[in-house]
Amino acid sequence: RQMQRQEQFEARIAAGEFIEAKDWMPEHYRQTLLRQISQHAHSEIVGMLPEGNWITRAPTLKRKAILLAKVQDEGGHGLYLYAAAETLGSSRAQMLAALHSGRAKYSSIFNYPTLTWADMGTIGWLVDGAAIMNQVPLCRCSYAPYARAMVRICREESFHQRQGYDALLTMMRQGSDAQRAMVQDAVERWWWPSLMMFGPPDEQSPHSAQSMRWGIKRVSNDRLRQQFIDATVAQARVLGVTLPDPDLRWNPQRQQHDHGAIDWSEFWRVISGDGPCNQERLGARVQAWDDGAWVRAAALAHAAKHSPAPAQ
Ligand code: 3HC
Repeated sequence: RQMQRQEQFEARIAAGEFIEAKDWMPEHYRQTLLRQISQHAHSEIVGMLPEGNWITRAPTLKRKAILLAKVQDEGGHGLYLYAAAETLGSSRAQMLAALHSGRAKYSSIFNYPTLTWADMGTIGWLVDGAAIMNQVPLCRCSYAPYARAMVRICREESFHQRQGYDALLTMMRQGSDAQRAMVQDAVERWWWPSLMMFGPPDEQSPHSAQSMRWGIKRVSNDRLRQQFIDATVAQARVLGVTLPDPDLRWNPQRQQHDHGAIDWSEFWRVISGDGPCNQERLGARVQAWDDGAWVRAAALAHAAKHSPAPAQ
């Protein structure tokens, strides 16, 4: 019976069908999606912190309003994704407990500090640009609730990337030499960590093979990384910044850019909790959870008072 359902499931995936929450699915498929979607949600929520640092320091009211809207979007993306993860049988409290205890991951990129205003434009351009590359294929993920959440998220991500690039163009074209240097410095600090967002090299990725067989991962880590590099080199040229990789050059045979080695020891160190800002980011999330305990208690007390008494 179990084998028959497993074979039917594999046949549905092979036929390109989408799986709904009520459909039968292998336990490993469920666990893989729960891991990925909850960590994606954590990434969105933790991702609000680096940018939140600059909402009160934005140079104009216009930039402040845009940054505020973007950070609010990230919060909304987190809620869509926690809701999608809950369809797999986990609760919000369980997922957040995994984050706060350090058991669950969130995107490595948010463990770096945002030192200047140019970091805001650079995060929009490179980090949201990489996120779009990684998230567009997820709109075709075989798990339908995740795919539907990603369609909405991708629409907002393109605004995030555009506003970042626009802010940098303003600094590069209308700014002072000091502001141009500020942009170049930010690009040098964010370039390599942005490439790491796509995950380890395919041959060092324990989940990729299975996730690709199940239609969860439609394009491999390395291929998405390469697409991002190829798309970004031209944008950097228009912007007038130099990407910090002396080995970056167009390879006519490959019709792609060759690039320098990525420091994977930094990547594994950062995702195991030893990045520049891991303690600060997780501390902020735990503090927010603790500070919000009274709100949760009040909401539960209110619900208990007003919910119908259980039938005798
Ligand atoms: N940061 C943190 N952990 C990472 C990582 C990264 N950049 N890349 C890989 N990892 C972790 C994986 O989670 C896995 O650890 P785990 O088993 O404890 O979960 C391990 O490294 C091995 O990596 P794999 O490639 O084998 O794992 P996956 O098949 O899950 O691929 C992934 C990694 C490509 C990140 C995939 O999980 C994915 O596509 N996730 C959904 C997209 C996502 O999370 N994007 C975050 C971007 S930031 C964001 O969305 C906010 C935006 O608005 C700016």
